[in-house]
Parts: sequence; C-alpha cells; structure tokens
Amino acid sequence: MKKKGTKKRFLLVANWKMNPDSLEDAKVLAAAFERKAKKSARTAVVVCPPAPFITTLVGNGKKSVRIGSQDIDHRTEGSFTGSVSARQVRTSGAEYAIIGHSERRAAGDTDAIIVEKVLRAFEAGLKVILCVGEDKRDHNAQYLLAVRSQLMAVLAKVEKSRLKQIVIAYEPVWAIGKSFASALSPRDIHEMSIFIKKVVAEAAGKDAGLRAQVLYGGSVSVDSARDMLAEGGVDGLLVGRQSLDAENFNGIIDHADSI
Ligand code: 13P
Repeated sequence: MKKKGTKKRFLLVANWKMNPDSLEDAKVLAAAFERKAKKSARTAVVVCPPAPFITTLVGNGKKSVRIGSQDIDHRTEGSFTGSVSARQVRTSGAEYAIIGHSERRAAGDTDAIIVEKVLRAFEAGLKVILCVGEDKRDHNAQYLLAVRSQLMAVLAKVEKSRLKQIVIAYEPVWAIGKSFASALSPRDIHEMSIFIKKVVAEAAGKDAGLRAQVLYGGSVSVDSARDMLAEGGVDGLLVGRQSLDAENFNGIIDHADSI
C-alpha cells in the first residue's frame, strides 16, 4: 500500500540528541545507516544530528539518508547567541527540522513559539517533524485533549497547502528515554494515530486527515519496532537511543522493509 505523495512506505527518523561524542563517531554511524538505507526501496531514513555535524553529514551522504536539525530558532536572524536559524540549517543542506520536541518544550518552548518555528521552517523550505505528546496518561482521556491542543495550536496557524510539509511525531513524554518495555503498545499507538488524523481532518478537511503522516516515538527498540509499524498504524518511527547503535537502527530499517 503506497501512500499518495510519498514514494516510500515508512519514514524512520533518528534523533541523536546530544550524541555521539565526536564528529568522527557521527560519520561512522551515518555511513552505516547509508549503506543500509541505500538498499531499502521501502523505507526513508532521516538523521537529525547535533547542529555542528549537519554540513559534514550532508556532504558525506549519498542521499539515501536525509539530514534534519533537532530544533531551529523562532526568529530569522539577530543577536541571539547560541541560536540557529531555519535558513542556516536549510542552506547547510538539511531538509527537515524537528520542532516541539518535549525536551525543547521543557526548556521553554510554548505553543506560540512552536508555531513561529514552524513558520520559519516553511519559509526556509524545511519539512517539519512536529512533536506532540502528553506528559502523563489518565483515565479521563485528558491526554487526548492535551495532544489535541498541541496540534490545534499549530494547525490553526498554518495554511492548508503547507500541511504536506508536516510530519506529526507522537511522543508521549512519559515513554521517552524509559525502559524499552515501557513503550506504548501497538494498540495504543494505533488509537492515537487515528485520533491525530481525526484532529487534522477537523482542522483542515478529510483529505488532509487521511494524508497526514504520523510517527511514533518513545523507547522504540529493535525488538518492538516491527509490531509498532505493522500493528500501530503509523507511517514511521522517531527513534532516540536505539539510533545511536548502527546494528539496532539498521535492524529497525530491516523490520520496516519486511512489512
Ligand atoms: P528514546 O527512543 O531514547 O526513548 O527517545 C525518544 C525521543 O525522544 C526521540 O525524539
């Protein structure tokens, strides 16, 4: 089943966070992904390295692995020490930007700032991996309202024609960086992927809802990835720790290819 508008069936995004320790290690890891991704007809791979590594990895890559940034600033330029703009990222060769990751939200990104970042990304020609996810689960379905509100904050402010440039990554905060056994079950992932598509449909119409690309992230492992993709109804995965090990991440690519 091919999705309209995308050549590949699944999208696997590696979020390296503040790893690995050196450019040399990053090159070795990216090269290992590249060898695997080159042979994969069905799975698209994006690596989001620390910003200083972007140019080198773009230059070394043979385009089987696309490069993204882990964040961008919400402004275009100016005296903002330590910040990196969407244009700087794009003109360094990155094609994607993760926006709204819970680790950036925890560091102060509000919905309003996230909307500005998304708009800067579009202006620069970046595709957006928009992260949403509740802090905790409850029995009154408040978590659904939390996800809906994060999504609506952005969907209400972007033009419908831009929606194909957004991938939505559902990452429940409580499942990030935990034991791999505590990741969300494929069944619950499925429930949330349907819910997210419904919210997109509500905001932008049925077709947009059907076309929405949804990823799952949060303690994904090589052992759980296959069921998450096969039964979770998602279009891909956003992988943290297991993307720092070539064998594990390439194993996840193999799983995606086998479905
Ligand atoms: P882990 O896969 O290490 O839980 O990290 C998930 C994540 O935050 C990816 O963006």
